[in-house]
Amino acid sequence: MALNDLLSIAHLTPKEIRQIFQSTEAIKTTPRDFATALAGKSVVLLFEKPSLRTRVTFDLGATQMGASCVYLDHQGVRIGERESVKDMALNLERWVQLIVLRTYSHRVVNEFAEIASVPVINGLSEWSHPCQGLTDYFTLTEKVGDDLRGFKMSYVGDGNNTCHSLIFGAAKLGAHITVGVPKGYDPDPEVLKLARKDAKTTGAKIQVVYDPYEAVSGADAVYTDVWASMGYEAETERRREIFSAFRVTKKLMKEAKKGAFFMHCLPAHRGDEVDAAVIDEKGSIVYDQAENRLHTQKGIMFELVTNAG
Ligand code: CP
Ligand code: NVA
Repeated sequence: MALNDLLSIAHLTPKEIRQIFQSTEAIKTTPRDFATALAGKSVVLLFEKPSLRTRVTFDLGATQMGASCVYLDHQGVRIGERESVKDMALNLERWVQLIVLRTYSHRVVNEFAEIASVPVINGLSEWSHPCQGLTDYFTLTEKVGDDLRGFKMSYVGDGNNTCHSLIFGAAKLGAHITVGVPKGYDPDPEVLKLARKDAKTTGAKIQVVYDPYEAVSGADAVYTDVWASMGYEAETERRREIFSAFRVTKKLMKEAKKGAFFMHCLPAHRGDEVDAAVIDEKGSIVYDQAENRLHTQKGIMFELVTNAG
């Protein structure tokens, strides 16, 4: 695969996504076959924000494939403060073969990728969360089969980074996605524009509505995420009021198809964006998603480091 970085699903072709899914499946099925795939390589995780899943799964994933991993945490790192992004990138590329970033600004991810000669993976920016989106669609292929064309995904809540990656993923894979948001919390129009361009060739349908029941109607999967993403904590109370009608409840799930999956990238706030009765019960596949972060990111690292060029 001639992919140099993973900054956004928007940059991937459907073929590249399928290739990542194939590697992920192989790695998940026979992890021992990949135990030395990254032997002698080093990975740095440079995180400006907290993380459980992304941090643990990249660290374990790299280690399980024979690489060593260094984590720079969100308390110690303020990217661009102690030295320029350029100097950070030009130092790190001398020591590591892969850089995983979690940043406040997507611009920083792009800048790192432009400067560093080694692959850069976006481990979440305020604009996108591609490792999450890829994991989520990989998880769905395990549940319903490889062909996600026509699969009806419904995303309810904030038009945020996770939402953007789900939109891009649907567009590339020919799935349908209906996003239900309060007015003013829409996904970025640029994301919709790019995704709708891809949708013309894949047959995906991308819709934004302002009524949660309309968004969920007939869905195969209902997805939500926190109402106040990292960086927006000061808006938590205000958002709690604005978003309350968008909480995923049992009543809302009834609008979806019978047996519809419930999905969440986690961390979840029970009682805010989702009721415990939905996330903790049958139909919820949130821990399958969380487990697959490990396998999918191993697939991504494998593709970027060993199959590049
Ligand atoms: N879903 C996700 O990225 O989780 P963390 O913020 O814990 O990494
Ligand atoms: N939208 C959330 C995702 C966390 C994994 C955030 O950015 O905080």
